[in-house]
Amino acid sequence: MNPLNGLTRRNTLGAALVGIAGLALGKTASVLADTVLPLGLDAIAQTRGLRFGTAIAAGKLNQRDLVALIDQECGVIVAENAFKWKQIEPQKGSFDFKGADAIASFADNHKKLLRGHNLVWPGNEFQPDWMKGKAAQSGKDTAAWAVKMIRQHVALMISRFPDIMSWDVVNEAVKPYTGKLNASILTQPLGDRLLDVAFKMARQTAPKAQLVYNDYMSWGIGVGHRDGVLRLLEGAIKRGVPIDALGIQSHLWATLDRPIDELAWRKFLEEIEAMGLDILITELDCSDRNVISKNVAVRDAETAAFVKGYLDVTLSFKRTKEVLVWGLCDRDSYMNAAFFAESRRRPDGLPLRGQPYDTELQAKPMRQAIANALAAAPARS
Ligand code: XIL
Repeated sequence: MNPLNGLTRRNTLGAALVGIAGLALGKTASVLADTVLPLGLDAIAQTRGLRFGTAIAAGKLNQRDLVALIDQECGVIVAENAFKWKQIEPQKGSFDFKGADAIASFADNHKKLLRGHNLVWPGNEFQPDWMKGKAAQSGKDTAAWAVKMIRQHVALMISRFPDIMSWDVVNEAVKPYTGKLNASILTQPLGDRLLDVAFKMARQTAPKAQLVYNDYMSWGIGVGHRDGVLRLLEGAIKRGVPIDALGIQSHLWATLDRPIDELAWRKFLEEIEAMGLDILITELDCSDRNVISKNVAVRDAETAAFVKGYLDVTLSFKRTKEVLVWGLCDRDSYMNAAFFAESRRRPDGLPLRGQPYDTELQAKPMRQAIANALAAAPARS
């Protein structure tokens, strides 16, 4: 399937030319609009006051076809891994900005907005390995140590990338089933105060940037994760922590072909809006792990319909301002990388088809579903 109702990308350009010729021949503007505008997902998003973008790995910036697709579809990019603390400071005090710098100059050269992902990711496996030893050495005063670590890192990153206007300041601090804080070297000594330290430092260093708490609570039937995030944010906002938005990752695999609770999801989003927060869809993808059929057309159709349903609900909330996918194509999806957990793959071993474009960079029905959902979203400022 191709971006515009079955037209190939080459034909899309043809359609644009036919449209222009149509104008010359005096055809009505609405015919022209149907045929021609707008082509890319970000262009469609912008007509509703939204933005569209993707994650990209620093190592893939040399893939010409992918870059062309990003230029066509995206107004925003985010680094898949290059800004993470583990990548930036692999050894204590020794920094590697290669990937992050490459992504930042790509954004600059290609006129894309850049999101920063992420400053503090409390799970022990996501923090640099050297931290474990350092925390132990800090003895009784692990809280003071953790505060110092977070402040230094947040200030360093934000000062180095002053053009970034939206940062995931804290990522995945809440445990999905219990709703409690994720136990890790940084959260144990600080508890919820981890948010205070990180967000306040971020605000101090980048007074104008949008500061985001990012997590993967979903529209599934379990309430623990959603409630935990609500409690965390409510408490933080009461304490005056400067949070501007909630990032909803939206890796939808766990709910495709599983029960969902749309009402509870709407209620959750209402509560987020009532807190005065904006909402960003930060990492959308939809693994077809649970679709039993091996037939590609069936799998793609089901995935697209599911994504459309999810976006329709979530974009009906006018404080939802952005949709970013976690990779544009199946070829580059982390779900098809060697390290991706066996338990999250398809039981039949077939590669997952969770992104809007396939391995040949041809648009799939999911791309059309995103386009339709963006176009149908109520306009927002
Ligand atoms: C993932 C990357 O895609 C992988 O390449 C990496 O090995 C692990 O992290 N939630 C997040 C993202 O916030 O940072 C994760 O990205 C996917 C889940």
